[in-house]
Amino acid sequence: MKTALITGASRGIGRELALGLARRGYDLLLVARSENQLQELAQQVQTTYQRQAHLLALDLTQPEAASQVATWAAKQAPQGLAVLVNNAGYGLWGRFEKLNLEEQLNMLQLNLNLPVQLTYALLPQLRLAGQGYLLNVASTAAYQAVPSLSVYAASKAFLLSFSRGLRYELKGSGISVTCLSPGATTTDFGNRAGMGVELQAVANKVSMTPAAVAEAGLQALFAGKAELIPGILNKVSAGLTSIVPKNLVEKIAAGIYEKYL
Ligand SMILES: NC(=O)c1ccc[n+]([C@@H]2O[C@H](COP(=O)([O-])OP(=O)(O)OC[C@H]3O[C@@H](n4cnc5c(N)ncnc54)[C@H](OP(=O)(O)O)[C@@H]3O)[C@@H](O)[C@H]2O)c1
Repeated sequence: MKTALITGASRGIGRELALGLARRGYDLLLVARSENQLQELAQQVQTTYQRQAHLLALDLTQPEAASQVATWAAKQAPQGLAVLVNNAGYGLWGRFEKLNLEEQLNMLQLNLNLPVQLTYALLPQLRLAGQGYLLNVASTAAYQAVPSLSVYAASKAFLLSFSRGLRYELKGSGISVTCLSPGATTTDFGNRAGMGVELQAVANKVSMTPAAVAEAGLQALFAGKAELIPGILNKVSAGLTSIVPKNLVEKIAAGIYEKYL
């Protein structure tokens, strides 16, 4: 019996990652705040894939969230965890000085502290299962600074760097770490970030579906890749950030993201 735990599983990329894992034969532990959406997903997993799915409706920005999840996971999967997916996260669009500081700190808690706390708390359970996979969901914003998404982009750069460092530390341990960095994807992300309809319409022109992003991410995870940027357009634009001068990359990003502020 193999079990996977996914944070932010109630919708979007996390929901598709959960479905992809169920399709591959994993029982699921689903975490997010929206209990009804988690219940609906658990039902779908049980009827479509005949896999067990348990849910925990929890605000993961609460101080004790990581230890609550770890205690719950140990109870639900005493044999250990085969997969941990740190997917829950959100962005905030706007000038740093104009955005509410508390909200930005809350975002950092979810995007950055929580994956560290949860990984620390759950590594023993990943070791217990013998072979383990850790998937961290970052963003193409991890590869460059993005004016008007400055704190969000920095949080994802942290996650990418953390993933790579930890992956190296865990070599030979049986635990493989992969960082998935999607570009624009058709989810609730833009709404939650407070992006206007014009900017969302621009993003939609180049967006991937959450199902395509999740499938590419799971293939990379089980192939033991260090990182994956799904989609050719995203790969090319993230690749360019390593050869084009940073000033120019930031000017182009500002041209897209600041235009609609
Ligand atoms: N969509 C994009 O364009 C895009 C691009 C690059 C990277 N990403 C990354 O992909 C990941 C998934 O985002 P998405 O695009 O699928 O967005 P989404 O549809 O808004 O999903 C976000 C998920 O995170 C959960 N979540 C948010 N706040 C939470 C909290 N306080 N406690 C527990 N769970 C919480 C949400 O569940 P509840 O609201 O039910 O709690 C939901 O399941 C994020 O890390 C995001 O940064 C997205």
